[in-house]
Amino acid sequence: MAKVKSAFFCQNCGHEAPKWLGKCPSCNEWNTFVEEIIEKQVPQVVAFSKSKSTATPMSLNDIKPQEHNRIQLNDAEINRVLGGGLVLGSLVLFGGEPGIGKSTLLLQMAVTMKGLKVLYVSGEESEQQIKMRAERIGGSNDECYILTETNIQNIFKQAEKIQPQVLVIDSIQTLFSNQIESSPGSISQIRETTAQLLRYAKQTNVPVFLIGHITKEGSLAGPKVLEHMVDAVLQFEGDRNHVYRLLRSIKNRFGSTNELGIYEMLGTGLRQVENPSEILITNADASLSGISIGATLEGMRPMLIEVQALVSTAAYGTPQRSSTGFDSKRLNMLLAVMEKRCGFKLGAKDVFLNIAGGIKVDDPAIDLAVVAAVLSSNADMPIPKNIALSAELGLSGEVRPVNRIDQRIYEAEKLGFDKIILSTYNKGIQQSDYKIELVMCGKITEVVKALFT
Ligand code: TYD
Ligand code: MG
Repeated sequence: MAKVKSAFFCQNCGHEAPKWLGKCPSCNEWNTFVEEIIEKQVPQVVAFSKSKSTATPMSLNDIKPQEHNRIQLNDAEINRVLGGGLVLGSLVLFGGEPGIGKSTLLLQMAVTMKGLKVLYVSGEESEQQIKMRAERIGGSNDECYILTETNIQNIFKQAEKIQPQVLVIDSIQTLFSNQIESSPGSISQIRETTAQLLRYAKQTNVPVFLIGHITKEGSLAGPKVLEHMVDAVLQFEGDRNHVYRLLRSIKNRFGSTNELGIYEMLGTGLRQVENPSEILITNADASLSGISIGATLEGMRPMLIEVQALVSTAAYGTPQRSSTGFDSKRLNMLLAVMEKRCGFKLGAKDVFLNIAGGIKVDDPAIDLAVVAAVLSSNADMPIPKNIALSAELGLSGEVRPVNRIDQRIYEAEKLGFDKIILSTYNKGIQQSDYKIELVMCGKITEVVKALFT
């Protein structure tokens, strides 16, 4: 008789317990335990389960450094975010909210790269749907194979026949393994199928992309365990109502996590955006109040971003503060600094803040641009269009330096700005190195003077 074994899993963090618990001891969430049957049968003929050698310890000095062999994909943004190409044998988790464009991006990678043998496994869409999508994108790779299958054992069988150079799984939440009884998408299935894919990747040296959905709270649906197992975690994000999408790396064993890729969603797939600053700044002819340009750094990429603010008299007792793309607590703090340090009475005003393009910014260097936009809207005085700003603001109203200031200055110069407002305390910055005029400020009052007089 087969032995039925079950365990309880926290649906939030994947913690395993032999009995039901009200509160997860690992992540402290309540009521997250669900029983899952993990009937481990006698190990079947599993293609990628045997470890070949017993490892012996080696001196670190004896281990020869090995260059990672990488496949250069024809998508420069993915290559860069992965740290210079797709490493052979790596397992890459590709997360994002439903509908953001994960399937589109990876299918596009598969159908547009000529000569690369890709097996695209979909458990979510039919062949017809994928064909329609591929036609929209318009690729011409004869070696792109589509498989609609959710059983992991069958997927490995087909993979062995086709011998792909890259395997794409869409999505990990739909896969299941015969060896485990619980339903697809449950923690134990996700963990088991990912472990098998990891073994497949390491033993065949075929890189595997795993698509994973993200919950509303922003974590990968299901388990954090997944993030520990894979070599790299890429996140595709953006506002579904806007056309721009950001590809970030959250974890990368083969490169830095500072890289960022930017795409624009078109009717014909995703277009790589090489010069992000141009698209993020509206080129309205008339000067409008409440708009400022901040020079920020997203990962390693300098970007000029437009900040829009609207300040109006509060209609009801409590003023409203609302911000999109910027931390609202930080906005409140900046408003308090403005109130205290330069005497602007914003207490009875509604303040709305928006970062253009549906982008989220958490670089502190945008502080000065936020302050400038709010002050400009409050006084209804436009900021001259040729000025960019880049500095953090401290609680006592001091203008603080930010990292990699030279990159930010060059970006502003490249885009034709005439002046950039910075902190006096940035080290090693000389006017003679730049064509753009550097306006150094030490206090917020000096910034106001530089902007509006
Ligand atoms: P999809 O890749 O299905 O998202 P995910 O796999 O992350 O759930 O993308 C869905 C959206 O992309 C859908 O709303 C339509 C849009 N889209 C375009 O705008 N242009 C295109 O060329 C394609 C293929 C999709
Ligand atoms: Mg999809």
